[in-house]
Amino acid sequence: MSVKVGIESLAFYIPRYYLSLKTLAKARGIDENKYIQGLGQHFMAVNPPDEGIVTMAANAAHQALQGVNKDAITHVLFATESGIDQSKSAGVFVHHLLKLNNRCRVTELKQACYSATVGLQMGLALIRQDPKQKVLLIASDIARYGLNTTGESSQGGGAVAMVLSANPKIIAIDQESGYYTTDVMDFFRPNYRDEALVDGKFSCEMYLKLLKETWTQYSELSGHNYDDHTYFCYHTPIPRLAEKAHQKLAWLNSIPHKDEKFHQQVEITLNYSRRIGNCYSASLFLCFISLLENCTEDLTNKRVGFYSYGSGCTGEFFSGTVQVGYQDNMHKAYHQQQLSQREELTQEKYEHFYNFKFPTDGSKFILPKHNTGKYRLNSLNQHKRMYEEVKS
Ligand code: HMG
Repeated sequence: MSVKVGIESLAFYIPRYYLSLKTLAKARGIDENKYIQGLGQHFMAVNPPDEGIVTMAANAAHQALQGVNKDAITHVLFATESGIDQSKSAGVFVHHLLKLNNRCRVTELKQACYSATVGLQMGLALIRQDPKQKVLLIASDIARYGLNTTGESSQGGGAVAMVLSANPKIIAIDQESGYYTTDVMDFFRPNYRDEALVDGKFSCEMYLKLLKETWTQYSELSGHNYDDHTYFCYHTPIPRLAEKAHQKLAWLNSIPHKDEKFHQQVEITLNYSRRIGNCYSASLFLCFISLLENCTEDLTNKRVGFYSYGSGCTGEFFSGTVQVGYQDNMHKAYHQQQLSQREELTQEKYEHFYNFKFPTDGSKFILPKHNTGKYRLNSLNQHKRMYEEVKS
């Protein structure tokens, strides 16, 4: 019999600042209903200069590791497309900040928003080989497009950290999945650019095309049909696209999609994304946390479907079964506190954060201190980043 593997613990961390899309709409001379109703997006998280993918990841991982034996972590897999170094993995900084065991493999994974899903599959394969191991999988990203571009309203940022193990207190992941890759330039960011380039409409088409391909493969391999899933989590660059994906899945399966139950199958997963925005590799798992924490129905033994998409492009459809007692292992209070204590930015302050540039000449630079979590970027010196734990 194969070993049951999955997620033992998971937590998210988001920046302490956000911009209302009403503010952005006003500044750009756009009808706010286009953002609020058309995209389904209300707010977007904004990073201050002293917080980035490493500090968000460390904060999320610190929380996810509460009550977990840190010494059992043999791998840190860091999924991101907002890398800070061409060589060194962002995960090594996190490994240091969290004082993890030296007998640990650390690496960074990249394939746009998809990479946390391959991290999940790789981590679970390692655990199937040796069920004593635990893997720390972190997805951390900042979604960034040019000012005044169509992508600007679909920015955001955040990290989700997951402990994977053979003691999956939250969800056991099914082994069968459907996956598909094809070479397209729907969204990309050359090394010399800070902002992604995107063909917005084409990217949405590819997202929906790969949903069909991966679902078809997944349902054939697993034998699971639409009704075998109680809820569906979709990668969510904008909530409206996840709604469209859900409608497409229903259409592919000849399911009527008019009633409240159908609507709720995805709506409950979008609660946090509407307030945080796209966080690329972390987005799908943020939707899963939203489902677990906002659903009033007991999800025990219910199967959840997951659709992961990363531009370029690779997609995967997989599933898992929620485990007995999952409610006792969530970090809901930590998440609610973050969402309720954020500071709203003016358009000027958002653009000030956006336009911040690090020196590139190796000179010593101390970062201005903003409202951050437990970890922040303190300074740069001789091109080296110095992270610190904030003393409370
Ligand atoms: P856009 O130009 O902002 O919006 O592009 P639009 O013109 O498509 O309008 C959106 C909706 O608003 C439409 O409704 C309009 O009718 C409606 P729909 O036809 O979709 O039902 N609308 C209004 N509604 C009410 N009142 C109004 C009004 N005006 C219009 N006044 C787009 C949207 C997503 C393309 C853009 O934000 C963008 O380019 N974003 C970046 C790329 C992106 O997010 N692509 C998604 C798929 S690719 C992906 O998921 C991968 C990604 O996460 C990266 C990675 O993998 O690393 C991006």
